[in-house]
Amino acid sequence: MDTTTNYLGLELRNPVIVGSCGLTSTVEGLLQAEEYGAGAVIVKSVFEEQIIYDIKRNTSFMAPTDNYGVSYEYIAQHVAEDSLEKHFSVIREAKKKMHIPIVGSINCYSFENWITYAKRFEEAGCDAMELNMAILPYETMMGCDDVDRLFSDIITSIKKFVSIPISVKVSSNFTNMAQFMQQLSWTSIGGITLFNKPLNIDIDIDNVKTVMAPKLSNPDDIFNTLRWVALLSKKVRCPLSASTGVFTADDVVKMLLAGASTVQVVSCLYKNGLSYLKELTSGLSDWMSKHGYNSVNEFRGMLAVGPSEESSLFFRSQFMKHFAEIQ
Ligand SMILES: Cc1cc2nc3c(=O)[nH]c(=O)nc-3n(C[C@H](O)[C@H](O)[C@H](O)COP(=O)(O)O)c2cc1C
Repeated sequence: MDTTTNYLGLELRNPVIVGSCGLTSTVEGLLQAEEYGAGAVIVKSVFEEQIIYDIKRNTSFMAPTDNYGVSYEYIAQHVAEDSLEKHFSVIREAKKKMHIPIVGSINCYSFENWITYAKRFEEAGCDAMELNMAILPYETMMGCDDVDRLFSDIITSIKKFVSIPISVKVSSNFTNMAQFMQQLSWTSIGGITLFNKPLNIDIDIDNVKTVMAPKLSNPDDIFNTLRWVALLSKKVRCPLSASTGVFTADDVVKMLLAGASTVQVVSCLYKNGLSYLKELTSGLSDWMSKHGYNSVNEFRGMLAVGPSEESSLFFRSQFMKHFAEIQ
């Protein structure tokens, strides 16, 4: 049974990747992910603010300033507690012991000099980088062109500093999703991760204050990812990694049928432990043997929208059919 898959120019033993999160922030966590069968791991992200703070701290003529307003104190404390050096030493240590690809991650949202630091991830031993581009159109002054330019500036610049493949992790909040993803895939990136998970905010009505919504996904969250992977996988020029809402081996199969090259899992591992990876990978093999497939490539993308198919017609007809049936 051949479950190997190619992603970002790397050969993975199977398509199940442990997505960036706290479970991948330590050498032990990374080693366990490999032991339990992950195809690759994405290390916990470094925030661009951490990098910028670090650059300023180490540049005598540019002492860290209060650029980030109220968040400055938090960033300063976070950097002090969780230094970048510690982060790179985790990657270096893990790299010596591991055989599966290790992907570094930066959570970024602006075109700043943090980009120059990307080289250090490569030097530490990362096989690829994922940029979690947490760029959301929060500001009323920000138009589509501004967002497009930001993506393009960051991608073009970072490629000047690293030679390892770069993937981009994006949110599902785009006005022109299909067009934007296609154009993104025409840049020099090696892959797109659909989707990152913007922080959700809730309101505590007893204490009348804003609070964080639950961090973990729910199984129903898969449908948005599944829709866009199926719609885009044959229309983009780079491989897609499906993230958000993948909880079971069946979900892994669905994403592959929709055309994903890899699948990232996080919440299901927080709920079941890293050993749950074994269930995901063996479930994939079981499904393949039950359906007579010898390799992932034989069925990947079987249920994706074709390269020149009109997606809107399909969805419109299904929508009408579905709601006409409900009385
Ligand atoms: C506790 C926790 C920490 C996370 N940390 C990161 C991070 O550092 N970088 C990142 O890109 N995504 C991070 N994520 C988001 C996950 O990588 C993933 O995109 C999201 O959880 C959706 O996948 P899931 O449905 O499998 O959980 C984190 C998620 C959780 C639950």
